[in-house]
Amino acid sequence: MGDFDADWLRLRAPADRRARAADLPLLLRPQLPKGQMLHILDLGCGTGSNLHALAPVLGGAQAWLCLDADADLLDRLAEETQAWAQASGFDWDATDRRVTGAEPDLTCTLAPRRFDLARDLDALPIEGIGLVTASALLDLVSETWLAGLVSQCAKVRVPILTALTYDGRVAFEPALSLDREVIEAVNRHQGRDKGFGPALGPSANGRLAILAAARGYWVEVRTSDWRIRRSERELQAALIRGWSRAAREEAPASDQAGIAHWEAVRLAAVERGCSRINVGHRDLLAIPRRA
Ligand SMILES: C[S@@+](CC[C@H](N)C(=O)[O-])C[C@H]1O[C@@H](n2cnc3c(N)ncnc32)[C@H](O)[C@@H]1O
Repeated sequence: MGDFDADWLRLRAPADRRARAADLPLLLRPQLPKGQMLHILDLGCGTGSNLHALAPVLGGAQAWLCLDADADLLDRLAEETQAWAQASGFDWDATDRRVTGAEPDLTCTLAPRRFDLARDLDALPIEGIGLVTASALLDLVSETWLAGLVSQCAKVRVPILTALTYDGRVAFEPALSLDREVIEAVNRHQGRDKGFGPALGPSANGRLAILAAARGYWVEVRTSDWRIRRSERELQAALIRGWSRAAREEAPASDQAGIAHWEAVRLAAVERGCSRINVGHRDLLAIPRRA
């Protein structure tokens, strides 16, 4: 089991769904070849929430190759996709791992593959791929890794669509005087190595935009912030505990008690239904410019 267990991915899924920039897949759709099977590579697929969000919007015939290093998450991909398909009114064929639907018109197969993106980027199965996508992944990666990915994508002139890259902005309601200090410490912590070398953290989306533009892509960026509701207590509590832990790992001994107090005050506000949190994210679409 990696750092992202299925319970965490399920907990964040509603906030993810609401946050995604709805217009980017719509801008992408006319750029894709018509009437052909679209082969899609999903990097760090987890339990498939990127597929669940994008497949119905893109429509048509799609074959998803879903890559993740975590075997437990990959094992749940089909099951989670079946649950999503049935809840969305699509048919699910378990033998072929295929989702079909008439409205919107969709035929979509999924192939889970265990793949360590950090170690094996050079062996990325990108040949014949018509879309490279990832959600909630890029803040983990390093500059070198990201440049390598963009270079591979540019060589085969494949569009890139990324969603939900953390951008470092967090706003709390009600506000506390220590919020800024805690989030600054969290953002420093984001730069630690997550397996890909020193992580880009909040600067990942901006770097992707620059790297892609330099390789001849036309780039569109949108904010896709989590707007976490008062009723979403479990998600808020998990975030606050995680941020407190990360901030304490970054902070000197003299700040430890203050951060622990910040956590206790924040959790009490969540428990009483008095807390809302906005977490800044970015989505990005990169389309190769016509030669
Ligand atoms: C925050 S989760 C996002 C999962 C999914 N894309 C979503 O939006 O729910 C990050 C994902 O990246 C995967 N991941 C992290 N490091 C990886 C690596 N080196 N190779 C492949 N996948 C990795 C994790 O296992 C996890 O599934």
